[in-house]
Amino acid sequence: MKTITSIQKHKGTTPLTVITAYDALFASLFDQKVDIILVGDSLNMSFNAKPDTLSASMDVMLYHTKAVCAGAKETFIVCDMPFGTYTDEKTAIYNASRVYAETDAHAVKIEGGIARAPIIKALTQNSIAVMGHIGLMPQFVRSEGGYKVRGRTEEDIVTLIEDARAVEKAGAFSVVIEGVVEEAAKRISEAISIPTIGIGAGKYTDGQVLVWSDMLGFFQAFQPKFVKRYLEGATLVQTALDAYIKEVQERSFPQTEYTYQK
Ligand code: KIV
Repeated sequence: MKTITSIQKHKGTTPLTVITAYDALFASLFDQKVDIILVGDSLNMSFNAKPDTLSASMDVMLYHTKAVCAGAKETFIVCDMPFGTYTDEKTAIYNASRVYAETDAHAVKIEGGIARAPIIKALTQNSIAVMGHIGLMPQFVRSEGGYKVRGRTEEDIVTLIEDARAVEKAGAFSVVIEGVVEEAAKRISEAISIPTIGIGAGKYTDGQVLVWSDMLGFFQAFQPKFVKRYLEGATLVQTALDAYIKEVQERSFPQTEYTYQK
């Protein structure tokens, strides 16, 4: 099982492997394989068919984090703090404390750069481990009018580096960099001493994270450019289901080996 210290040793060495999980069953398949499991608020979209992450609540995140912790007892687990649960220091401490009090998760994740540094500092000073998240931040989708790839201009790269430095200075032990052009992610990674974990940020970060239902091909609504499907999960499930339906309808299932006899 990774610790914050061993996670930080991945800076500039072997990339960290991170995947999301939302339930005990899949978490148990990922346990002791990946370095970190993130209970991402992306579950609101891929598990709950909502158009964005904004309506995920603290109670929903706690429910899924408890399930993931039950399924993956030997893996470092991070709980995503949902939209509106860390608007000020007091609210953030209250909600993040619930993660430690009610689940076995090891850390929380917060979206935001310089503007959120005081919140990250308040949490880390109150013994709550924080993973930052900068670049494209899904919780800003409505306020920014969509999902926009970052780091296309020198000015924006400088802003992102300032964000990353602020998050590090506030005490975060690592930071997710999402939806950022490769050169920008490389420069951010070089500018800070905590591990960077990329998603849609190219290969120069200190680790990679993907949403499990994207990378295993279960979520088919859309496929972002950065998602590589390592399995065609939905197709496999539908093929198996078709076989089951056919066998039931033609009474060839259950065969003798699946049937109790006297
Ligand atoms: O919610 C999530 O799954 C995330 C990852 C995309 C990093 O924040």
